Amino acid sequence: MVAQKATSGELLEKVREIFCDVTGLDADEVEEDSELDELGVDTILAKELARKLSGFSGRAVESSRILESENFIGVVHYIQSILDIGNETTSGNDKETPSRKQAKDPRSAATNDTLPASVIQEAFSSTKKITDELIVDGHMGNYCGEVMPRSTELCIAYLVEAFEQLGCSIQSAKPGDKLKRVPYLPKYDKFMDLFYELLREQALIEMDGSEIVRAAQSCPTKSATELLEDLLQDEPSHAPEFNLVQVTGPSLADCLSGKQDGIALIFGTAQGRQRVSDLYALSPINRVWIEQLAYFLEQLVKRVPQNGQPLRIMELGAGTGGTTSTAIPVLARLGVPIVYTMTDISASLVAAAKRKYRENPFMQFKVVDVESQPDPELLRSQHIILSTACIHATRSLPVSLKNIHSMLRPDGFVMLLEQTQQIPWVDFVFGLLEGWWLFEDGRHHALAPVTHWEKIMKQVGFGNVDWTAGERPEAGLQRLIIGYAS
Ligand SMILES: C[S@@+](CC[C@H](N)C(=O)[O-])C[C@H]1O[C@@H](n2cnc3c(N)ncnc32)[C@H](O)[C@@H]1O
Repeated sequence: MVAQKATSGELLEKVREIFCDVTGLDADEVEEDSELDELGVDTILAKELARKLSGFSGRAVESSRILESENFIGVVHYIQSILDIGNETTSGNDKETPSRKQAKDPRSAATNDTLPASVIQEAFSSTKKITDELIVDGHMGNYCGEVMPRSTELCIAYLVEAFEQLGCSIQSAKPGDKLKRVPYLPKYDKFMDLFYELLREQALIEMDGSEIVRAAQSCPTKSATELLEDLLQDEPSHAPEFNLVQVTGPSLADCLSGKQDGIALIFGTAQGRQRVSDLYALSPINRVWIEQLAYFLEQLVKRVPQNGQPLRIMELGAGTGGTTSTAIPVLARLGVPIVYTMTDISASLVAAAKRKYRENPFMQFKVVDVESQPDPELLRSQHIILSTACIHATRSLPVSLKNIHSMLRPDGFVMLLEQTQQIPWVDFVFGLLEGWWLFEDGRHHALAPVTHWEKIMKQVGFGNVDWTAGERPEAGLQRLIIGYAS
């Protein structure tokens, strides 16, 4: 084929053939919306693609431009622009179901259907009412009174052991003795401040100006290993969080001194990654509120007047799918037209989700960085944006929330699941990650009270903001926060 004379459809097939040749994939695995990461196109393959596409087109093809393309069709468009043969590439994908075709144009369906505010309010109000019930049913009823104090004691035991290794014995010091500060890498400044604050709160130390002085409280009488065994035996449903504390605790001294890397420790092994995934998918501290979110979606979707147009739901920072895996079966069971776009900043997590959920024709997958200006096609496109345990990890809540607001239709809303109170073991584990300390918007900690979320959401244009609450103390640990686009 002479490239300059290729029609758009032929061009698409030719580029697909070159992709298959370079990547070793079959033609049906290279779809228009296949992301380059998903196709395994890295810098080296991009260079090879550029070489072959140059040969085919007779023009200079830059590998950097290939890598900038979001997906396969983006590369076709790039080659098309080089060849200057018009912009009429047909989809060429006759295998697509009508629902998937519809899903490709987010705004096509967003014209005449509306999500009545009264319906959302009704669904949220019935969801709020069951907060305490879900806490008790979800093994969280004794969390503040028993589980959390014991997991904090476990962290203290690990801390005391780490300080001992770093040359400061809290154990053998007597009340009133001065304690020397332990050495640590400068990047752990804020993390260390939290530790000293925790030791102070637990009355193990007092601060006397810049001096640290041993206070009266005894150190845990059992070792961290013994405390962990007791906890795993007494509170097995909370094992995912104890297991994570057990990943970081014994290596704390090595991390602080730079002998070990926190990210490698937590995410560098399959076991570590599984433990994090289990935390979001299985632990009661997350499950209770994810179940509540699913309950809300069910209450809402059942009430939404149907006019055949799909409800557009986008999940941000969906990660390993703790929320997705609960929401999808509920939505699938309800049998109403939905387009659910699963997104994350991590291309590999999006690719993994695409493989996992390939049987769900109503799902789409996209890499989205909530801190960046949304793609124009996403603007005012979504009825519902969901995000669990993600937005707090961004540099600026105002920027992220404004971006979210811009992707919502005027009748849409965001629902965030966020931890709104600090829990010592959470800092103990995630404080080792640089991502925990990214915030640069005036926050003092990654996590913020719900009133802070409300203030920022209103500042960036959300209308009413509401959140779950209950009588139980656990009701304030995490909350579903809803913000109406207008
Ligand atoms: C704690 S995990 C989320 C857990 C997940 N929502 C669940 O329910 O299992 C945080 C996720 O946010 C993602 N993330 C971090 N920064 C992001 C950003 N700027 N934009 C989008 N996603 C982001 C991370 O890649 C990670 O998958």
